[in-house]
Amino acid sequence: MAVTLTYYGHATFVVHADGTRIVIDPFFAPNNPAAPAQATADTIDADFMVISHGHADHIADAVAIAQRTGCTVISNFEIVNWLANQGVEKTHPLHIGGGYSFPFGRVKLTIAHHGSGLPDGSYGGNPAGILIHFNDGTDVYFAGDTGLTYDMKLIGEAGGVDLAVLPIGDNFTMGPDDAVRAAQFVQAKRVIPIHYNTFPVIEQDPQAFARKLREEADIECVILQPGESLAL
Ligand code: NI
Ligand code: MN
Repeated sequence: MAVTLTYYGHATFVVHADGTRIVIDPFFAPNNPAAPAQATADTIDADFMVISHGHADHIADAVAIAQRTGCTVISNFEIVNWLANQGVEKTHPLHIGGGYSFPFGRVKLTIAHHGSGLPDGSYGGNPAGILIHFNDGTDVYFAGDTGLTYDMKLIGEAGGVDLAVLPIGDNFTMGPDDAVRAAQFVQAKRVIPIHYNTFPVIEQDPQAFARKLREEADIECVILQPGESLAL
């Protein structure tokens, strides 16, 4: 079994794990200005979807993709209830600190310091990070939108992760300096930076972040352009 992640810009991925397709934070074209033009809610296939929080840049295409594909949507209790009210049939509620074993691996929600209001103003519960222990033993941490939090050390103390997907955009989330510390806290072997350069207020130089991560933490940075993939 192998785990491969394909990046669609901003905070959106499709993970392929032994034939299962898992969409993370669905925000595709044309809503997502960073996504490849052909990657729309009409073209993305999914068996599962995991959503970190209710902001539009993480959930915009959730209903359309879930309705077309019939995938199971995993998120916090408030968000899956909201999605069910929008016509999404298959959902699985989780909440922070809790995990559940799905056919591809175990998904656990972690603390994220941020907001989670849904696009129509509904209450979206607390925002979360997403920790996935895939069946082949690969551990991936999607931090979601969050500031640096000392609780990230718990993930490192529990054995660390093969890959941490961390926001570096600053303004709404951690910036590059705090993302280096987050990578150290979770004991990441590799980091993919996300949530930058989508909008003017989150412009960052990912190459500068990669240098800083290597020099200060001796951790490898993998910079993916939208449309590119990483096999773990
Ligand atoms: Ni957000
Ligand atoms: Mn965001």
